[in-house]
Amino acid sequence: MTASATNDIIARAVEVLKENDQGAYTVPTKGLYPFQWNWDSCLTALGLAHYDEARAWTEIETLFAHQWPDGMVPHIVFHVWNDGYFPGPEVWRTGRPTATSGITQPAVAGFAVRRLFDRARDKTLARERASALLPKIDAWHRWFYETRDPKGEGLVAIIHPWESGRDNSIDWDDAFERVPTEGVEPYIRRDTLHADPAHRPTREQYDRYIWLVQHFRGLGWDNARLHDASPFQVVDPGFNAILIRAAADLADLAQALGDTAIAAANRARAEKGLAAMERLWSDAQGQYLCLDRITGKRIDSASVGGILPAFAAIPTARAQALAATVERLAANARYVVPSHDPGDPRFDAKRYWRGPVWLVVNYMISDGLAAAGHNDAARRITQSSLDLIRESGFAEYYDPLTGEPLGGGRFTWTAAMVIEFLRHAS
Ligand code: DGY
Repeated sequence: MTASATNDIIARAVEVLKENDQGAYTVPTKGLYPFQWNWDSCLTALGLAHYDEARAWTEIETLFAHQWPDGMVPHIVFHVWNDGYFPGPEVWRTGRPTATSGITQPAVAGFAVRRLFDRARDKTLARERASALLPKIDAWHRWFYETRDPKGEGLVAIIHPWESGRDNSIDWDDAFERVPTEGVEPYIRRDTLHADPAHRPTREQYDRYIWLVQHFRGLGWDNARLHDASPFQVVDPGFNAILIRAAADLADLAQALGDTAIAAANRARAEKGLAAMERLWSDAQGQYLCLDRITGKRIDSASVGGILPAFAAIPTARAQALAATVERLAANARYVVPSHDPGDPRFDAKRYWRGPVWLVVNYMISDGLAAAGHNDAARRITQSSLDLIRESGFAEYYDPLTGEPLGGGRFTWTAAMVIEFLRHAS
């Protein structure tokens, strides 16, 4: 790509970020998602840092200002009133001073903060801001292993599909059958006013999402009870890999900042998690698989959640196999990495996390593959991501077969990732 084409795309990406900037946090996109989302914000901060480092730190600090006393960082912070989104604060009723949801999201903050710190132009600012965030992120990591890994297995479970970020993945279908729908209070969805219903989760899935919210609300959002009380407990390799990478990054950051206790605790979490991940590996699929903690069985579903572990320091042979899996997927999809294997009859090219390509996931996979020396596979992912932007703009997600833009438009984290791809192309 010529320098002027690169500069043009970056300028357009910055426009999207500025358009969605609310001052101290950024909304994922106007209309569909009018509040602050946890992992959106952490990845968005990387894009913000390219033109305003102080603003990038603020993005993550605003999120952590709403951390719960037990250490959890909620998946949504409802900073302002807006009736364009369901389920809003009146459904969650978590009783927090500023309304938040009551579940969490992928723990990408440790990774993002380390990356901001390492790349900082203003080192004094970075030291000050990173030092203040360090114990908060550490508390979140501790919370994960205490409440979502009660038997100390080294892997945490999600208790609601929204926690994974991959809301309607095929991975959850069987386990989700156990979630009842009786007693769900009447509701009106708002997402389908902003996005094509054929690109979103189904009504039946929404009933189950809301049943879980009501169930946890009935337990007073007491995290000491929620894991065991949830009929949905799934160990997602992608979710765990993000936490493991974040723990390793936080350990390095703590070391650089002179906090040896936080460094040691996070190093130990990452090592234990990496060893435990081996139980999720499937030779047959050439990737990791989810585990249903209630049945104790692995879930035979080849989703991108099982490729995302490339983001963590997995064994060399596993990274190599994941690079080969990406190449195999590239033979069946014009754009990689599809969120589900197109060869699976359950694949749906347009429906949210059942097939479409997401640039945040591409970013994390290509980052890990490049670090492991799989530059061809990493470059293929970067190239697909940039082709999608050029052809289809800053969409929420894309059809991997046609490149059609799907879901919400003018999407913040897509824009942030594009800046990352262009400035740090692997
Ligand atoms: C939604 O509302 O679509 C979100 O993914 C839940 O966080």
